Amino acid sequence: MLVLGIETSCDETAVALVEDGVRVRSNVIGSQVEHHRPYGGVVPEIAARAHLELLLPALDRALVEGGCTYADVDAVAVTTGPGLVGALLVGVAAAKSLALAHSLPLIGVNHLEGHVCAVQLEFGLLRPPLLALIVSGGHTSLVLVDETGRMSTIGATIDDAAGEAFDKVARFLGLPYPGGPEIDRLAREGSADAIRFPRALLDGTYDFSLSGLKTAVVRELRRREAAGEEIHLADVAASFQEAVVDVAVRKTMAAVARHGVEQVTMVGGVAANSRLRERMAASCAEAGARLLMPSPALCTDNGAMIAAAGWNRLAGGERTAYDAVADPNLPLAGLVVRASGEPPS
Ligand code: KG4
Ligand code: ZN
Repeated sequence: MLVLGIETSCDETAVALVEDGVRVRSNVIGSQVEHHRPYGGVVPEIAARAHLELLLPALDRALVEGGCTYADVDAVAVTTGPGLVGALLVGVAAAKSLALAHSLPLIGVNHLEGHVCAVQLEFGLLRPPLLALIVSGGHTSLVLVDETGRMSTIGATIDDAAGEAFDKVARFLGLPYPGGPEIDRLAREGSADAIRFPRALLDGTYDFSLSGLKTAVVRELRRREAAGEEIHLADVAASFQEAVVDVAVRKTMAAVARHGVEQVTMVGGVAANSRLRERMAASCAEAGARLLMPSPALCTDNGAMIAAAGWNRLAGGERTAYDAVADPNLPLAGLVVRASGEPPS
């Protein structure tokens, strides 16, 4: 079954073709980085307009690169939320039009569920139970997926998302947008022990708080500046990154121990971070848990993960009505990922 996946929830105009939920036939990403770079972050109105400009060419390219036409496509999957409403609307309108015009089933996908399903593109169909750490520009959550595939969020950020913290600190350090990969790169030249930034552990919960850390970075830089002390940006980047990574790894491993899960998935744009990957891999190995993390290109937003999640739901007999709407706050709790490896009925 060939599923066309469309993702326009933020600043990537992404279209992909995925076969049977696992084999990527094409994965096209029309990046809007240049549209937003002058503003230092994603401008919602610009994102929506850029999706309009980039989506049809991305659809054409995905078909050409996948070596097929709409006659070969069996269903259309699209992100219906969460995300920027104007951006989501472009993808949802396109997906509905294509599904109607070609008489194909439509399937609405939660963006975060899509991130989790990116795993199956490289490791095969998910076999819960598992724990998912979702760290992206808009979200930081720990999600438990039980053996039936039911997801429940056991912790989330109470303020900034991990990617948001990376991007804000990067902007403060004078690095270009998007800041996450810039900090990752710069941190390799610095010392993670140079500055001891605070770690908000919020004991007794799996919740995260990152805005205090961000403020601590700003304060420390201002203090050093006022005192005429030399500032090594690479040390600041490495020390900040280590604080984020520390909290993410500690929270995840606490949940692994408490819930006795043997599989961990780490997904979302920040899961592309090299230090986080290294530390999470070491901690999971120590705890005897299997870590499934997509390669960096599949951690950041893409259409293949949406097609994969869509396939799971289609295979479970789900369909979305043609009058589906975009929901910027679409909740994740209660969603179901495909829990078994049987072929679709
Ligand atoms: O999942 P994603 O592509 O979009 C959202 O759903 O938000 O995540 C984008 C976020 C951005 O904040 C970006 O700076 C961050 O992921 N990011 C990284 C890295 N690559 C992307 N953060 C830290 N290190 C990276 N290597
Ligand atoms: Zn995302």
